[in-house]
Amino acid sequence: MASNKTFTMIKPHAVADNNIGGIIAMIEAAGFRIVAMKKTQLTPALAGKFYEVHKERGFYAELCEMMSSGPIVPIILEKENAVADFRTLIGATNPENAAEGTIRKIYAKSLSENAIHGSDSDENAAIEGSFFFGVIEQY
Ligand code: PPS
Repeated sequence: MASNKTFTMIKPHAVADNNIGGIIAMIEAAGFRIVAMKKTQLTPALAGKFYEVHKERGFYAELCEMMSSGPIVPIILEKENAVADFRTLIGATNPENAAEGTIRKIYAKSLSENAIHGSDSDENAAIEGSFFFGVIEQY
């Protein structure tokens, strides 16, 4: 059975462009409940840890530099079928391929600056949520 939680981060360029509110409005309108949320900033080392699974990929350094370049907004979300429904809401990784009306289609600037992260599995949603939030904050 699919879990009812997923994890997301609003990326630095979207925070810098004052798009936190617009993105959260889309998330809530799609039926997600905010379980935990904060504004914080990753160091390059912490971004490297978060994205460690991608360390052999050519874009890893660029990704870690971009994700530590300014404040981000990590969020744990709740909804039935959360992981899959959230991936649909944010759209394809490359905004050129993102469907109309998705968060990335509206707010992404490029493949690197693609506005928002969405966990790709229930297991990773739990790991990623726990990277930013303690047990008490996850209720
Ligand atoms: S996904 O969403 O995990 O299936 O996508 P994937 O292609 O595996 O990408 C993993 C994360 O790397 C980001 N990415 C990039 N960043 C910078 N430059 C390039 N070329 C690039 N390609 C992919 C992508 O946005 C994913 O980050 P998150 O935070 O998960 O969105």
